[in-house]
Amino acid sequence: MDALTALHTRNSVNLLCEPGPSKSQLENIFKAGLRACDHKSLAPWKYLVIEGGAREKFGLLMAEVKRISNSGELDDALASKLASKPFRAPTILVVAAKITEHEKVPEIEQILSAGAGAQMMMVAAHAQGVGAIWRSGSMMFHPAMREGLGLDEKDHIVGFLYLGTPSATKALPTLKSEDFVEYWKG
Ligand SMILES: Cc1cc2nc3c(=O)[nH]c(=O)nc-3n(C[C@H](O)[C@H](O)[C@H](O)COP(=O)(O)O)c2cc1C
Repeated sequence: MDALTALHTRNSVNLLCEPGPSKSQLENIFKAGLRACDHKSLAPWKYLVIEGGAREKFGLLMAEVKRISNSGELDDALASKLASKPFRAPTILVVAAKITEHEKVPEIEQILSAGAGAQMMMVAAHAQGVGAIWRSGSMMFHPAMREGLGLDEKDHIVGFLYLGTPSATKALPTLKSEDFVEYWKG
Protein backbone atom coordinates (compact mmCIF):
# COMPACT_ATOMS: atom_id res chain seq x y z
CA MET A 1 0.00 0.00 0.00
CA ASP A 2 1.44 3.41 -0.88
CA ALA A 3 1.70 6.13 1.75
CA LEU A 4 -1.23 8.26 0.59
CA THR A 5 -3.52 5.25 0.32
CA ALA A 6 -2.58 4.26 3.88
CA LEU A 7 -3.22 7.80 5.12
CA HIS A 8 -6.53 8.10 3.27
CA THR A 9 -7.97 4.70 4.19
CA ARG A 10 -6.89 4.11 7.80
CA ASN A 11 -9.75 3.26 10.07
CA SER A 12 -10.10 1.74 13.48
CA VAL A 13 -10.78 -1.93 13.99
CA ASN A 14 -12.46 -2.67 17.29
CA LEU A 15 -12.86 -6.43 16.74
CA LEU A 16 -9.39 -7.92 16.82
CA CYS A 17 -8.20 -11.50 17.06
CA GLU A 18 -4.99 -13.54 17.03
CA PRO A 19 -2.36 -13.33 15.75
CA GLY A 20 -0.95 -10.02 16.90
CA PRO A 21 1.61 -8.19 14.79
CA SER A 22 4.86 -10.01 14.07
CA LYS A 23 8.18 -8.70 15.41
CA SER A 24 8.95 -7.08 12.05
CA GLN A 25 5.49 -5.51 11.78
CA LEU A 26 5.92 -4.13 15.31
CA GLU A 27 9.35 -2.78 14.44
CA ASN A 28 7.85 -0.96 11.43
CA ILE A 29 5.19 0.49 13.74
CA PHE A 30 7.80 1.74 16.25
CA LYS A 31 9.96 3.22 13.48
CA ALA A 32 6.93 5.17 12.24
CA GLY A 33 6.28 6.49 15.77
CA LEU A 34 9.89 7.65 15.99
CA ARG A 35 9.35 9.85 12.91
CA ALA A 36 6.78 12.03 14.66
CA CYS A 37 7.46 15.76 14.57
CA ASP A 38 9.55 16.61 17.61
CA HIS A 39 10.48 20.14 18.67
CA LYS A 40 14.19 20.32 19.64
CA SER A 41 14.52 16.57 19.06
CA LEU A 42 13.67 15.68 22.65
CA ALA A 43 12.29 12.27 21.59
CA PRO A 44 9.62 12.48 24.29
CA TRP A 45 8.34 8.95 23.73
CA LYS A 46 8.09 5.64 25.50
CA TYR A 47 6.31 2.59 24.12
CA LEU A 48 5.37 -0.35 26.31
CA VAL A 49 4.34 -3.63 24.67
CA ILE A 50 1.76 -5.70 26.53
CA GLU A 51 1.06 -9.12 25.09
CA GLY A 52 0.45 -12.72 26.15
CA GLY A 53 0.29 -13.19 29.91
CA ALA A 54 1.19 -9.55 30.62
CA ARG A 55 -2.38 -8.70 29.56
CA GLU A 56 -3.67 -10.41 32.68
CA LYS A 57 -1.50 -8.18 34.90
CA PHE A 58 -2.57 -5.14 32.89
CA GLY A 59 -6.25 -6.01 33.43
CA LEU A 60 -5.64 -6.36 37.15
CA LEU A 61 -3.88 -2.99 37.11
CA MET A 62 -6.89 -1.42 35.36
CA ALA A 63 -9.18 -2.80 38.05
CA GLU A 64 -6.85 -1.62 40.82
CA VAL A 65 -6.64 1.90 39.36
CA LYS A 66 -10.43 2.02 39.13
CA ARG A 67 -10.68 0.89 42.75
CA ILE A 68 -8.24 3.60 43.88
CA SER A 69 -10.10 6.28 41.92
CA ASN A 70 -13.39 5.09 43.47
CA SER A 71 -12.09 5.71 47.01
CA GLY A 72 -11.21 2.04 47.51
CA GLU A 73 -14.53 0.62 46.30
CA LEU A 74 -15.06 -1.66 43.32
CA ASP A 75 -17.70 -4.30 42.89
CA ASP A 76 -16.73 -7.74 41.62
CA ALA A 77 -18.63 -7.43 38.35
CA LEU A 78 -16.81 -4.24 37.34
CA ALA A 79 -13.49 -5.64 38.54
CA SER A 80 -13.81 -8.68 36.27
CA LYS A 81 -15.07 -6.57 33.36
CA LEU A 82 -12.00 -4.34 33.62
CA ALA A 83 -9.67 -7.32 34.09
CA SER A 84 -10.94 -8.78 30.80
CA LYS A 85 -10.51 -5.58 28.73
CA PRO A 86 -6.90 -6.23 27.61
CA PHE A 87 -8.01 -9.54 26.10
CA ARG A 88 -9.82 -7.61 23.36
CA ALA A 89 -6.56 -7.72 21.37
CA PRO A 90 -3.44 -9.88 21.25
CA THR A 91 -1.11 -6.89 21.58
CA ILE A 92 -1.46 -3.53 23.30
CA LEU A 93 0.96 -0.65 22.98
CA VAL A 94 1.01 1.94 25.72
CA VAL A 95 2.13 5.22 24.16
CA ALA A 96 3.50 7.69 26.68
CA ALA A 97 4.98 11.17 26.53
CA LYS A 98 8.24 11.27 28.52
CA ILE A 99 8.40 14.86 29.64
CA THR A 100 11.71 16.75 29.75
CA GLU A 101 11.88 20.25 31.20
CA HIS A 102 12.89 22.56 28.37
CA GLU A 103 12.71 26.33 28.18
CA LYS A 104 11.50 26.31 24.55
CA VAL A 105 9.38 23.16 24.48
CA PRO A 106 6.46 23.23 26.90
CA GLU A 107 4.88 20.04 28.15
CA ILE A 108 1.92 20.39 25.77
CA GLU A 109 4.22 20.23 22.75
CA GLN A 110 5.78 17.03 24.04
CA ILE A 111 2.35 15.50 24.63
CA LEU A 112 1.31 16.55 21.10
CA SER A 113 4.44 14.93 19.72
CA ALA A 114 3.64 11.65 21.49
CA GLY A 115 0.08 11.84 20.13
CA ALA A 116 1.41 12.52 16.64
CA GLY A 117 3.63 9.45 17.02
CA ALA A 118 0.64 7.37 18.11
CA GLN A 119 -1.19 8.38 14.93
CA MET A 120 1.86 7.52 12.82
CA MET A 121 1.87 4.10 14.48
CA MET A 122 -1.83 3.64 13.72
CA VAL A 123 -1.18 4.34 10.04
CA ALA A 124 1.87 2.05 9.98
CA ALA A 125 -0.28 -0.73 11.45
CA HIS A 126 -2.97 -0.19 8.80
CA ALA A 127 -0.40 -0.07 5.98
CA GLN A 128 0.70 -3.58 6.97
CA GLY A 129 -2.81 -5.01 7.33
CA VAL A 130 -2.61 -4.94 11.12
CA GLY A 131 -5.92 -3.92 12.71
CA ALA A 132 -5.69 -1.23 15.37
CA ILE A 133 -7.78 0.96 17.61
CA TRP A 134 -6.63 3.80 19.86
CA ARG A 135 -8.28 3.52 23.26
CA SER A 136 -8.06 5.60 26.41
CA GLY A 137 -10.44 5.88 29.39
CA SER A 138 -10.28 7.88 32.59
CA MET A 139 -7.84 5.42 34.17
CA MET A 140 -5.24 6.41 31.58
CA PHE A 141 -4.90 9.78 33.32
CA HIS A 142 -4.69 8.46 36.88
CA PRO A 143 -1.25 8.63 38.58
CA ALA A 144 -1.70 5.03 39.78
CA MET A 145 -1.80 3.87 36.15
CA ARG A 146 1.50 5.59 35.40
CA GLU A 147 3.03 4.16 38.54
CA GLY A 148 1.73 0.65 37.84
CA LEU A 149 3.24 0.77 34.35
CA GLY A 150 6.59 1.98 35.69
CA LEU A 151 6.31 5.47 34.19
CA ASP A 152 7.38 8.68 35.89
CA GLU A 153 4.90 10.85 37.74
CA LYS A 154 5.41 13.71 35.26
CA ASP A 155 4.88 11.55 32.15
CA HIS A 156 1.55 11.31 30.34
CA ILE A 157 -0.04 8.27 28.76
CA VAL A 158 -1.57 9.39 25.46
CA GLY A 159 -3.12 6.14 24.36
CA PHE A 160 -3.50 2.41 24.50
CA LEU A 161 -3.17 1.09 20.93
CA TYR A 162 -4.90 -2.28 20.62
CA LEU A 163 -3.43 -4.30 17.74
CA GLY A 164 -4.31 -7.58 16.10
CA THR A 165 -5.84 -9.30 13.11
CA PRO A 166 -9.06 -7.59 11.99
CA SER A 167 -12.09 -9.82 12.53
CA ALA A 168 -14.50 -7.29 11.05
CA THR A 169 -14.21 -4.25 8.86
CA LYS A 170 -16.36 -1.16 8.69
CA ALA A 171 -17.03 1.44 6.03
CA LEU A 172 -14.96 4.59 6.01
CA PRO A 173 -16.80 7.74 7.04
CA THR A 174 -17.49 10.08 4.15
CA LEU A 175 -16.05 13.32 5.49
CA LYS A 176 -15.37 15.96 2.87
CA SER A 177 -12.40 18.31 3.09
CA GLU A 178 -14.55 21.21 1.86
CA ASP A 179 -16.51 21.04 5.13
CA PHE A 180 -13.33 21.60 7.16
CA VAL A 181 -11.11 23.81 5.02
CA GLU A 182 -11.24 27.53 4.40
CA TYR A 183 -8.68 29.75 2.71
CA TRP A 184 -8.29 32.52 5.29
CA LYS A 185 -7.82 35.93 3.71
CA GLY A 186 -7.82 38.11 6.80
C1 LIG B 1 -7.03 10.18 22.21
C2 LIG B 1 -8.09 9.21 21.74
C3 LIG B 1 -8.69 8.36 22.65
C4 LIG B 1 -9.67 7.46 22.24
N1 LIG B 1 -10.25 6.62 23.15
C5 LIG B 1 -11.16 5.71 22.75
C6 LIG B 1 -11.69 4.75 23.65
O1 LIG B 1 -11.33 4.69 24.83
N2 LIG B 1 -12.61 3.89 23.20
C7 LIG B 1 -13.04 3.91 21.89
O2 LIG B 1 -13.89 3.07 21.52
N3 LIG B 1 -12.54 4.79 21.00
C8 LIG B 1 -11.61 5.68 21.40
N4 LIG B 1 -11.10 6.58 20.50
C9 LIG B 1 -11.67 6.64 19.14
C10 LIG B 1 -11.20 5.51 18.24
O3 LIG B 1 -9.81 5.32 18.38
C11 LIG B 1 -11.55 5.81 16.77
O4 LIG B 1 -10.78 6.87 16.28
C12 LIG B 1 -13.02 6.09 16.56
O5 LIG B 1 -13.75 4.96 16.93
C13 LIG B 1 -13.34 6.46 15.09
O6 LIG B 1 -12.97 5.43 14.23
P1 LIG B 1 -11.99 5.69 12.98
O7 LIG B 1 -10.62 5.92 13.58
O8 LIG B 1 -12.10 4.44 12.17
O9 LIG B 1 -12.52 6.89 12.26
C14 LIG B 1 -10.07 7.43 20.87
C15 LIG B 1 -9.43 8.28 19.95
C16 LIG B 1 -8.45 9.16 20.37
C17 LIG B 1 -7.77 10.04 19.36
